[in-house]
Amino acid sequence: MERLRDRVAIVTGAGQGIGEAIARRFASEGAHVVVAEISPALGEATAATLRAETGTRAQFIRCDVADARSVEAMVAETIATLGAPDILVNNAGIAVFGDPLDITDADWARCMSVDLDGAWFCCRAVLPAMLARGRGSIVNIASNHSFQIIRNTFPYPIAKHGLLGLTRSLALEYADRGITVNAISPGYIDTPLNQRMFAENPDPEARRKVEAKQPVGRLGRPDEVAAVAALLASDEARFIVGANIVIDGGVTIRMYE
Ligand SMILES: NC(=O)c1ccc[n+]([C@@H]2O[C@H](COP(=O)([O-])OP(=O)(O)OC[C@H]3O[C@@H](n4cnc5c(N)ncnc54)[C@H](O)[C@@H]3O)[C@@H](O)[C@H]2O)c1
Repeated sequence: MERLRDRVAIVTGAGQGIGEAIARRFASEGAHVVVAEISPALGEATAATLRAETGTRAQFIRCDVADARSVEAMVAETIATLGAPDILVNNAGIAVFGDPLDITDADWARCMSVDLDGAWFCCRAVLPAMLARGRGSIVNIASNHSFQIIRNTFPYPIAKHGLLGLTRSLALEYADRGITVNAISPGYIDTPLNQRMFAENPDPEARRKVEAKQPVGRLGRPDEVAAVAALLASDEARFIVGANIVIDGGVTIRMYE
């Protein structure tokens, strides 16, 4: 099923992990994807794979979402080469975890600028073109940390709570002008970000212990998140407005055991 045939989709941080899986899924549904990524090596590789596998016009455009000018240039290049964006997925994000009184001003600023400012810069850059055509879908990749707290993960949840606020605020502002804005909150997903964290953990059992805490007994897969993103980006979801779809194997519905 090609629900996104000939749509132009920008996916930030699509060089690996969840973003890459979303880019693949979108391309397999017929979209021409801009891989808006800070790493040229990762971004080029994803775009080349999409072109080879799907025959779509996937393109890497280097972009640091934390830099408003870099975002504006990426969107201008998208419009010039592929056309006006129909879909934006704000996926680029970093985990900055610490104790509140130990983190530095630089840690705080890095987290907020990538995880929250970055999403706003991208929304602000695509909205004029979407509004002019009266259609668009924005999907923000939030987190379980958007509505629950784990101690010692400060300030990541603050940025992710803010991202849900951004989602709901923009969703309502533009609901009657053809734009949908929604969020997806993944739980523990098996991506390079988490693989890195497990590798750095001195406990060799760290991964197994995390898996044991998941009600379904495993981590989620990036393609499972991508399937939800494809639905929200498609015309099948035009009545879903300002929603936050949780995809976490049931971990946040549990009280405690
Ligand atoms: N993996 C999980 O368990 C999990 C759970 C909940 C939410 N999330 C969120 O999902 C998103 C993707 O996570 P992931 O696990 O795939 O991460 P990842 O680290 O595996 O991949 C992130 C990608 O974003 C790119 N990137 C980083 N900073 C960027 C910037 N400033 N501008 C452009 N690109 C940038 C990286 O180069 C990388 O390709 C993030 O927003 C993360 O917070 C992940």
